[in-house]
Amino acid sequence: MGTRRISVTVDGVRYDDDVEPRTLLVHYLRERLGKTGTVIGCDTSNCGSCTVHLDGRSVKSCSVLAVQVDGGEVVTIEGLAGPDGELHPVQRAFHENHALQCGFCTPGMIMQAIDLLSDHPDPTEAEAREGIEGNLCRCTGYQNIVRAIQAAAQAGAGAAASVPAQPATAGGAA
Ligand code: FES
Ligand code: FES
Repeated sequence: MGTRRISVTVDGVRYDDDVEPRTLLVHYLRERLGKTGTVIGCDTSNCGSCTVHLDGRSVKSCSVLAVQVDGGEVVTIEGLAGPDGELHPVQRAFHENHALQCGFCTPGMIMQAIDLLSDHPDPTEAEAREGIEGNLCRCTGYQNIVRAIQAAAQAGAGAAASVPAQPATAGGAA
């Protein structure tokens, strides 16, 4: 099967790569770019642990083909922190509100939480729960996750952009 060339910006860095048409975005991110912060928790597009942002909205990267992001901008959990390692407000709120236990769901949950805060800058508990209903957590019972999302909103995270703070630099995968 032939490959197709894609150009995509991931966490502020532009990549030009040849990919097979069947390659999933999550596999491209993890295996080609080494972005293993984006994890795979199921093979049924149910768990949401693979959630990233594509052109500013959350998507389950296991349900998107790499060729579909050609020309697009992807932000992963690894692109959220500032250049000096400063946590994104939603990352900080998850940390401060004990919104994780094993942490497996956390990258996808945080990416989804940022997306929901862009729609609901000050979400009610019901809106927060609805916003993360596509993301499964086996550990926390969701209570502290909802609390963290509301705390992040109070800290102004709803206004925070999901674009990475790092300056974009030219780059490419081998
Ligand atoms: Fe479970 Fe993508 S890995 S939804
Ligand atoms: Fe373990 Fe959510 S913290 S799955």
